[in-house]
Amino acid sequence: MVGKNYNFVVSSSTTRANDGAPAATGPAANLALGAWGELGLGAREVRTAVFVIEQNIPAAEEWDEWDAQSLHAVARDAAGSAIGTGRLLPPAFDAQRGTGHIGRMAVLRQARGAGVGGAILRALMKAAPDYGFAQIVLHAQSHVADFYARHGFVAEGAEFLEVGIPHVLMRARLQ
Ligand SMILES: CC(C)(COP(=O)(O)OP(=O)(O)OC[C@H]1O[C@@H](n2cnc3c(N)ncnc32)[C@H](O)[C@@H]1OP(=O)(O)O)[C@@H](O)C(=O)NCCC(=O)NCCS
Repeated sequence: MVGKNYNFVVSSSTTRANDGAPAATGPAANLALGAWGELGLGAREVRTAVFVIEQNIPAAEEWDEWDAQSLHAVARDAAGSAIGTGRLLPPAFDAQRGTGHIGRMAVLRQARGAGVGGAILRALMKAAPDYGFAQIVLHAQSHVADFYARHGFVAEGAEFLEVGIPHVLMRARLQ
């Protein structure tokens, strides 16, 4: 999976990040898409802070063989520090042709609510057709299901536990 790099703007108050058109105010941030070899350090920093430390998920469950094969997104603040991440799993992850999976979405606590997570999700969804995906499925932590719903995901089926945390399966069909 190949890399892309573009700028977006986030704000903690009245403006929202988007995929290119800068908002009127807020610190500039950079969102890169690329392979683990290129973005793994930044992704690892954010996922360690959010999943391993904040959510207490065992480190052994956080890291898997799919990282090396996924397309990763890493958002950085104006100082270059990684503040958010997510990944689009490769076609081999799901035997069902055309079904992509997004996971490991995380934004540092102090950077939340400014549109960084939304920008990461949209960038991964935008890249998905390049890999033959017509729809995206993800396991949303139930407490952030509304966040995904705002980006076109619809919940399916009953809630289930994953790493001890309630989740719900959500699906978005790509245009
Ligand atoms: C889920 C997560 C990645 C979202 O990241 P984020 O950067 O906070 O996401 P956004 O800022 O794009 O959107 C979050 C909320 O802020 C709101 N928001 C976005 N931009 C805003 C702005 N400029 N001003 C005010 N509110 C804004 C959005 O409406 C959204 O509200 P919603 O939850 O009701 O949909 C983040 O909360 C996180 O890392 N959580 C902990 C880890 C986790 O649970 N990951 C999900 C695994 S499935």
